[in-house]
Amino acid sequence: MKNTIALFVLLMIAFAASAVAQNTPAKDLFANRCAMCHGPDGSAQTTMGKNLKIRDFHSADVQKQSDTDLKTVITKGKGKMPAFDGKLTGEQIDQLVGYIREIGKQK
Ligand code: HEC
Repeated sequence: MKNTIALFVLLMIAFAASAVAQNTPAKDLFANRCAMCHGPDGSAQTTMGKNLKIRDFHSADVQKQSDTDLKTVITKGKGKMPAFDGKLTGEQIDQLVGYIREIGKQK
């Protein structure tokens, strides 16, 4: 019986932890998964960003694309940009697209 309770408690902890991971705000997702290449502010002024010639998220070239275009790049990848299909949920990718729009407004 004790073991059953211990297992139950462990499952609850695991569930709570995964729920937190799912709710990570786009800002944190970006900082953890994207900023090493795109820079913390999306302007790609990182060594990686410069080497890979990544476009600044503030630029018109990026902002003129539709949400669907941006979502496709993040989901499927493009050139050196890794695909996040299966690593992030569709909802998380939508939130990241929203975050890239926010970056675009902060000129
Ligand atoms: C390993 C480095 C790397 C990481 C990590 C990375 N990217 Fe990229 N990303 C790139 C490169 C390189 C390009 C340019 C691809 C091209 O145009 O050939 C790019 C392009 C993009 C574009 C299209 C911009 C344009 O120029 O049209 C978007 C949107 C984007 N990335 C979003 C993200 C998001 C969101 C994440 C995190 C979930 C992320 N990237 C993580 C390297 C990276």
